Formats: sequence, C-alpha cells, structure tokens
Amino acid sequence: MSYITFKEVSYRVQGKNLFQNVNLALARGSFTTLVGANGAGKTTFSKMIIGMVKPSEGTVLLDQKNVNDYKMYEIGNKVGYLFQNPNVQIFSPTVREELGFALKYKGIAETVIEAKTEKMIDRFMLRHTLETPAYHLSQGEKQRLALATILMNDPTYLVLDEPTTGLDQKRRQVLSEVLQQIHAEGIGILLISHDYAFIRKMPTDVLSIQNGGIAYETGF
Ligand SMILES: Nc1ncnc2c1ncn2[C@@H]1O[C@H](COP(=O)(O)OP(=O)(O)OP(=O)(O)O)[C@@H](O)[C@H]1O
Ligand SMILES: [Mg+2]
Repeated sequence: MSYITFKEVSYRVQGKNLFQNVNLALARGSFTTLVGANGAGKTTFSKMIIGMVKPSEGTVLLDQKNVNDYKMYEIGNKVGYLFQNPNVQIFSPTVREELGFALKYKGIAETVIEAKTEKMIDRFMLRHTLETPAYHLSQGEKQRLALATILMNDPTYLVLDEPTTGLDQKRRQVLSEVLQQIHAEGIGILLISHDYAFIRKMPTDVLSIQNGGIAYETGF
C-alpha cells in the first residue's frame, strides 16, 4: 500500500513550473533514490512530503491522509527528515541532550532514553564527541548526530537530502551500511543523492526529476 502519494501535483515558483502534474506512490518500507541536476527541485519535492512546501495544485498524502491535515509533531512521528544542511537541525548544547530531547519531551522513561542513546552513540560513532559542544562538531559528525536523533523517534519513513555531502570514503561506507540496516528493519527510505557510486551499493529504485516530471530510471 502506498505510504507517500503524490496526486496530480504541480508546483510553481517565480512564474516557473518546477513540477507539472506529478503522480507517484511510494510504498511503506520501500527504498527509493531521487536524482536530478542542481536546481531540478529535489529538495522542494522532498519538503512537500512533510508539508513544509505546499503544492500549487494537487495533493500529497502521507499514510493515506492529506499531509496538510496533520499536526507538525504527527508528521515528525511518521517521517524523519534529514536536511541538506545539518546545522539547521541541531539545537541542543550536547550530543546526549540532542539525542534525548524528543523522547524526553514525550515523557518516555529516563532509563529507556539512556539505553537508546547509548545504542545510537555506538551505531553512529559519536562516543568521542560526548564532551564536545554540538556546534563544534565536524560536518560529518553533525550529519551523523542529526540522523541518529531522527532515528531515536522510530519513524516509519526516512527522507535524507544528500546525506553523503562532506563525508569521506569511510564514513560514506558506514552510512551505506546503516541505511541498508535501517531498510532491512522495515523503515522506508527516500534518499536524495547525486552520488552514483554510493547509490549503486544499495537495494534502491531510482527516480529522476527532469523537466518538471518524475520518472523511474530503467536499467539502473
Ligand atoms: N522558496 C523559494 N523561492 C524561490 N525559489 C525557490 C524557492 N525554493 C526553491 N526555489 C527554486 O526552485 C528550484 C529548485 O530548488 P531545489 O532546492 O528544490 O533544487 P535541488 O534539486 O534540491 O538542487 P540542489 O541539487 O542544488 O540541492 C531552484 O531553482 C530554486 O532556486
Ligand atoms: Mg537540494
């Protein structure tokens, strides 16, 4: 069943049609990569999924319901969104506080939060950063922290906007393994990436944005 559905979606910006009549269904648990040139509209498209950008025409459904009819936190519980720039995402002074923030706010027991936090610190190789103020982390560390923080929420679906930017070969490999694990656990993924070497390693369908339309790439 479709988890994210675009119905006849068009989007205009500054008199230009960025998208024209897009129809698309992404299944629960699917793994899809979105490719396209700089400025093609990848980020704009992905922000429509979480209701941050509203279509000029048409509808975006999330879990069978118009995304506009959800409250912000309800969307956050369904879709974890990793921004192209992780600086906009991290706002706690320390790595531990950042990881625990959302669950603490939800009233989850401290011991549960601690156990989960420890797991994420190991999974995302953040232990050496625990004494570092979050704003001093490197780009790659911030990206890993942002992704770990999103996963603390147990989302059904993940959207990642160019997560390999600023990662070296080793970190890229680790991210590729983490995404495959996450997918194997049943979480759906929409990955935005230009990085074909990275994409090829993963069990993903590839969607391409071109001239305002979105289509699956065949023979990938
Ligand atoms: N709020 C806005 N106001 C004006 N123009 C916008 C706005 N948002 C996006 N655009 C324009 O829409 C186009 C698509 O932008 P978008 O960021 O979605 O592209 P992208 O495919 O993610 O590019 P990149 O590969 O550089 O990240 C660009 O030409 C951008 O300048
Ligand atoms: Mg972008």
